[in-house]
Amino acid sequence: MKGVVTSNIGSYEERLKGFDWSIAETELGYKKGDDINIGWYCSDRICRMGSGAKTALIWEGMSGEKRYTFDELRRAANAVAAYLKGLGIRPEDRVCLFLDRIPELYFGFLGVLKTGAIAQPLFSAFGEEALRVRMENAGTRAVITQRKHAAKVRKIIDKLPQLEFIILVDHDGKKPLLARETAFSLEGCAPVEHFECHSTKAESPSVLHYTSGTTGQPKGVKHVHYSLIAQYLTAKWVLDLKEDDIYWCTADPGWVTGTSYGIIGPWSQGITQCVLDVGFSAEAWYKFIEKNKVTLWYSAPTAIRSLMKAGDAALKKHDLSSLRHLASVGEPLNSEAVLWSEKVFGLPFHDTFWQTETGCILIANVPGMRIKPGSMGKPFPGITAAVVDPKTHEPIQDAGKVGLIAIRPGWPAMMRTYWNNEKAYQGKFKNGWYLTGDRARIDKDGYFWFVGRDDDVINTAGHLVSPFEVESALLEHPAVGESAVVAKPDEVNMEVVKAFVCLKPGFTASFDLDLEIMNFVRKKLSPLAMPQQIEFVDSLPKTRSGKIMRRLLRAKEWGEEIGDTSTLEEEE
Ligand code: PRX
Repeated sequence: MKGVVTSNIGSYEERLKGFDWSIAETELGYKKGDDINIGWYCSDRICRMGSGAKTALIWEGMSGEKRYTFDELRRAANAVAAYLKGLGIRPEDRVCLFLDRIPELYFGFLGVLKTGAIAQPLFSAFGEEALRVRMENAGTRAVITQRKHAAKVRKIIDKLPQLEFIILVDHDGKKPLLARETAFSLEGCAPVEHFECHSTKAESPSVLHYTSGTTGQPKGVKHVHYSLIAQYLTAKWVLDLKEDDIYWCTADPGWVTGTSYGIIGPWSQGITQCVLDVGFSAEAWYKFIEKNKVTLWYSAPTAIRSLMKAGDAALKKHDLSSLRHLASVGEPLNSEAVLWSEKVFGLPFHDTFWQTETGCILIANVPGMRIKPGSMGKPFPGITAAVVDPKTHEPIQDAGKVGLIAIRPGWPAMMRTYWNNEKAYQGKFKNGWYLTGDRARIDKDGYFWFVGRDDDVINTAGHLVSPFEVESALLEHPAVGESAVVAKPDEVNMEVVKAFVCLKPGFTASFDLDLEIMNFVRKKLSPLAMPQQIEFVDSLPKTRSGKIMRRLLRAKEWGEEIGDTSTLEEEE
């Protein structure tokens, strides 16, 4: 273990006593009823406090490195905001950010928020169908994108009548702009020194992140500007952000980690952060840490496992002694990964647990807490968490007994609803608890141990994939009659997508057809949603009422006993 550093949280036990979120309100200078705008807090306020000349972003991509100060960040966000306002974008309009991890994504996100519009970040790896479903549901009015991704938007614009503006951030001025397209260049636009942020209040909507469930299409998780309060404090206390830190969150802002802790948490505290927009390689990652002297690193188990797999040779070539605190989120962090990081970095990865819906970290191994490798840690102060009985939804008192992870509603970053789906939102609450849909046990010392999800959602490399969405895409292939999609174990990604497919009469299983179907899904949805394996079968196991028993197929993949299937049939 490295030398003892005083953490921001200090004593966890002391912080629990009389905890109140007003701690964050006071630190941020916010009073009930005031305007609160995340875009303003992450840029203007930091400049007002005298840190305008401090580096906000160190960005590295294929084209080299760029650095921006907080003042440049503020002006860039202003420029985006002024441009959007000029187009006629109104408060609460949905503006999608469909971009690689380029600086425009970060400035654009804050710019959208400054106008009072709702930022809807989507992974640039999404295919046209994944994009269409999410923009249709959100009624997206504008999308900010790059030339290389515009083709996917063009393919679906006929199905999206509400989409009025396709804003290209890298139009070269050569090819004519097509229908609904317009060009905006951050480098080419006039600087905007002042932009009057829309006077958003605590409950004004801010961000719409799409997440996948077992049934139905992906759901839009609606967050509000007040989420800042919890994102600020959890970033400060769990990730331990301090004035001189160089922080690296490896998550893409298409994912909630990339916005809550890749934009809002660090920048609302005026912290310098780094972004690496190149594909994963152990060599590139270690080099990036060494070059930028990264001190805080927030990553995910799949990346950690990939680094472990890459071996020590790459590691030994680099001086990684700048690192002082490591954290992880998104999937179970196996104890081997914690022990490995202690061995090679002299620091354990601190696991954190939360969800798109929760907006901020709920359960964590906070700095200074004794880490039990494999455990997610304990609830953040102000978070009341329990495991409840799946039937009665009463908290389970016996240590070690598995139940559903449940949280008492009321923390600032909690989602406010699912977009256009209040019924699904209400369905998440039972007996006064918000149910996360995950199973865990709590040990006698109050530590939470993740057991598994309580639904069929596939968690591949930390990203949730809905079997329903993949099955719907498969059905659009002319050869597919029926399909069932389940998780299959994977050494690095934890789970990958596996599809069981019944072909339509006249089609025969073949290697070529297998590849063709995989690629079909990859293009429609995304590389992560693409089945890594397709098994052609004559029929699928079904309940008496005709529903496919995914869990039976899943159990086979995991070598689990399924026991009496009649109970499964009743459950369906
Ligand atoms: O199943 C849990 C898993 O990821 C789900 C949330 O995924 P998402 O909404 O995409 O947000 C992920 C980033 C905040 C959870 O319901 N999960 C998240 N963190 C952990 C985890 N599973 C085990 N251990 C974790 N630390």
